[in-house]
Amino acid sequence: MDKIRIIGGVPLRGAVEISGAKNAALPLMTAALLTDEKLVLNRLPYLADIITLANLLATLGCELSLHTNRRDYQENRSLTLHAKRLLSVTAEYDLVRKMRASVLVLGPLLAREGKARVSLPGGCAIGPRPIDLHLKALEQMGAVIELKEGYMDAHVPGGRLKGAEIQFDKVSVGATENLLMAASLADGETILGNAAREPEVTDLARCLIAMGAKIEGLGSDRLKITGVSRLHGATHDVVADRIEAGTYAAAAAITNGDLELLGVSAELMQSVIEKFGESGVLFIPTERGLRVRRENGLMHGVDVMTQVFPGFPTDMQAQFMTLMAVADGASMITETIFENRFMHVPELARMGANVTVHGSSAMVRGVPALKGAQVMATDLRASSSLVLAALAAQGETVVNRVYHLDRGYERIEEKLAACGARIERIG
Ligand code: EPZ
Repeated sequence: MDKIRIIGGVPLRGAVEISGAKNAALPLMTAALLTDEKLVLNRLPYLADIITLANLLATLGCELSLHTNRRDYQENRSLTLHAKRLLSVTAEYDLVRKMRASVLVLGPLLAREGKARVSLPGGCAIGPRPIDLHLKALEQMGAVIELKEGYMDAHVPGGRLKGAEIQFDKVSVGATENLLMAASLADGETILGNAAREPEVTDLARCLIAMGAKIEGLGSDRLKITGVSRLHGATHDVVADRIEAGTYAAAAAITNGDLELLGVSAELMQSVIEKFGESGVLFIPTERGLRVRRENGLMHGVDVMTQVFPGFPTDMQAQFMTLMAVADGASMITETIFENRFMHVPELARMGANVTVHGSSAMVRGVPALKGAQVMATDLRASSSLVLAALAAQGETVVNRVYHLDRGYERIEEKLAACGARIERIG
């Protein structure tokens, strides 16, 4: 089923369960490789990327079992991972090319086994996405990494990584996560300077501490890890997905509806709340999460520049652009994290959006309404921006290649239909 059909124009009303964050669940799953005991992850989102990584971990010898129950007002999916002994240290190209976050097994394998053979991930639609920062930092900890036939062949002479003082040239979520895991079992103290501060990084650090790791500086750009000889099992709730929440907030705003986002808190998304607020969209805290609606029926154009956390997230750029496409006035949107993250622009233009791209900036001039059309998803967040446009557009839209959506949004058509959207999966 590769297409989604939407008839736009319905103000969305109701409540949406926000799942655990994809970008927290993925590194948390690889953390299971650091111990021979069980790691239990609650609030696991059920997404294509999670299944891909589960398959990769299984090839390494990790046993996985999934249980579902209801907790509070939400469905809870609990994944137990048990890497009692590893059967392989190779992450095959076929799995890594599907999901570049597979490189997050590199740090744990080197920390646990002292060796790893991981396919270099290819680039992806939004940019070349090198992993030089991961490799340089691991080499500073004593790893020897050679590139052979597209694979990184890594080993640690002497068997154990050594703590090091690392200063990242650029803020990298993945590199910070790989090194957090590697340093947890290293010999001695590691400092990560210019570390990423995303909530998903902090969530991983919290889980590692629950497993016995010694980490200081959570939430800051300077992390200090004192290596220990072993880590034990733990149970951890995956932090709520602030990007999924921001996407549904945009759905409420663009349809002039009123949605309660269940299970997410404001501190995960301050910069999003501020920007939405400037454009006339309110986030009202409730006992169960956050309620989102327009302040007085009108939205106005505001400028935004994506930044590393706590700035406005790059993963919300496409969704916000769609909102600005129907706001009153103009909005300058600047993408500073990835090189090619405007692929939603030509598709939005097919729906009547007025957007002009100049390098890493896009000038959006609001139009009274978008019109339904056949459009093509190109990457995860671009595809969600097309769904948002379709929800507000006059008439019917068909979004093609929706497998991109399934990588990052759990049951999106069910969650939207439950709030009144006229949406169905077809083809
Ligand atoms: C994570 O990707 C997220 N993915 C991305 O979400 C998110 O957009 C990104 O962080 C930025 O917030 C996961 O967590 C699984 P980076 P990651 O390393 O870790 C450059 C989504 O839509 N860089 O912070 O790969 C890189 O090219 C996805 O959910 C290097 O140059 O991002 C990029 O320009 C998309 N060398 C910038 O840094 C390196 O060694 C930020 O990348 C590593 C990164």
